[in-house]
This record gives sequence, C-alpha cells and structure tokens, in this order.
Amino acid sequence: MENTDSDIVFQSYGRCCNNEQFFVDFYDRFMGSSAEIRALFVDTDMTAQRHLLRNGIMQLVLHARGMPDTKLRALGCSHSRTGFNIRPEWYLLWLDALIATLWQYDPHFTEDTAGAWRRAIAPGIEIIRSAY
Ligand code: HEM
Repeated sequence: MENTDSDIVFQSYGRCCNNEQFFVDFYDRFMGSSAEIRALFVDTDMTAQRHLLRNGIMQLVLHARGMPDTKLRALGCSHSRTGFNIRPEWYLLWLDALIATLWQYDPHFTEDTAGAWRRAIAPGIEIIRSAY
C-alpha cells in the first residue's frame, strides 16, 4: 500500500517526539525568529510548555489521520485575540521552525517528508489560526 502524507508524518514524528532536545531546539529556533514571539514566553515554564507542545503537535498529526477537531478548536480558543492573542501571521514562523527542527532530528527527512508535513498539518493549523 502506498504511504499517505499522514503515514509519513506519523512515522517522522515518531522518530523525533521522544527526544526532549527536539522541543528545546524548536523553541530556541521559534523564539529566535522574532523578539515579539520571545516576549510571549518570558514567564512560561518551558519544561511544561515543551510537553504541552509535544501533545499539541500530536493533535495536528492525529487530525490529519481523521481524529475529530475538538482539541484543535480548544487550542484555537486559547490562542485567539481574547486568549494569548497569537497573530495569524505568526503561524508561518511556527511552521518554518517546526520543519527546520524536523530536518535536524529526523534522520530520514527529505524534501518529500517536508511536503508531507506541510500538506498534512495545514488544515489543523488553520483551525487554530482561524479562531483568531
Ligand atoms: C500555549 C500548541 C502556535 C504561543 C500552547 C499550548 C499548546 C500549544 C498545546 C498549551 C495549551 C494551552 O494553553 O492552550 C500550539 C500549536 C501551535 C501553536 C499546536 C501551532 C499550530 C503558537 C504560536 C504562538 C504560540 C504561533 C506564538 C507566536 C503560545 C503561548 C502559549 C501557548 C504564548 C501560552 C504559554 C504560557 O502558558 O505561558 N500552545 N501552539 N503558539 N502557545 Fe501555542
């Protein structure tokens, strides 16, 4: 059977998500992309945040595999203008930081894997982003 985007992404994330350093490097990279973004996390317990993000990315991956969007809608709510006030354009930086960190940690990563990630999680990101 042919591997779908969601299979490729599921396996790729499996090769990264048990490595704490993956999430350390993701946040270093993401915060390094903008002073405004760095400022959002000054009071954040980053150890806890790394675990929350591990689960958050899993929600995006599971949504690509057909799971209902309940958890992503809740994230849309918490990230909206009445919550953390995460501006819609920042999700581009978030995705670029994720892809760059995957390149670094997934030993089987290729341009095709990058494409599979971008296609598979775009709808889930859009659920969070569009709740702004
Ligand atoms: C909190 C996931 C994008 C900034 C969280 C939490 C999760 C999460 C699971 C903790 C649960 C919650 O409080 O609701 C995600 C996912 C994203 C995303 C999956 C991509 C689709 C972003 C972006 C930014 C951001 C683009 C900033 C530019 C924050 C902040 C918090 C947070 C500031 C709260 C930190 C704190 O408690 O101090 N995110 N997030 N997130 N996220 Fe995101």
